[in-house]
Amino acid sequence: MLISQKMNTAINEQIGREFGAFLQYIAVATHFDAQSLPQLAKHFYRQAEEERDHAMRFVRYLIDAGAKVAIPAVGAPKSTIASAEAAVQLSLKWEQEVTKQIHGLLELALKENDYTTQQFLQWFVEEQLEEVSSMDKLLSVVRRAGEDGLLFVEEYLAREGGGEKS
Ligand code: FEO
Repeated sequence: MLISQKMNTAINEQIGREFGAFLQYIAVATHFDAQSLPQLAKHFYRQAEEERDHAMRFVRYLIDAGAKVAIPAVGAPKSTIASAEAAVQLSLKWEQEVTKQIHGLLELALKENDYTTQQFLQWFVEEQLEEVSSMDKLLSVVRRAGEDGLLFVEEYLAREGGGEKS
């Protein structure tokens, strides 16, 4: 095995969090879908797919490193969404937390002189910068638009590339 047992455990926990984020973004997307806000729905379905991809990157890494994949229990997502602003605010908070978790993994890799994991995590460090920044931008747009102006947010997302991250 190329990584320590401690790193193996920490990465398995992160896989659980990424799958948790996948479920949470699906819940947010369906909230918007039910409100006939297709661009917001599309944006969050895509976010969900990205989270699934993040989880699978970690899974593949463990396999490549000869480590054990042990996916932990994943809690149910929050299914009651009070408002668009609350949904995006919550998403921004998750992304900020995930950024801290990725930095925590990197700190462990540095402490263990685990160069392979340090290299692997670089992609996530950049990805988190992009995710936090795009969610922060979306939150500003949603706040400016207000709950009655969500069609403006729909137009914004359509302009930004069909709901894709900018
Ligand atoms: Fe997997 Fe949005 O971070």
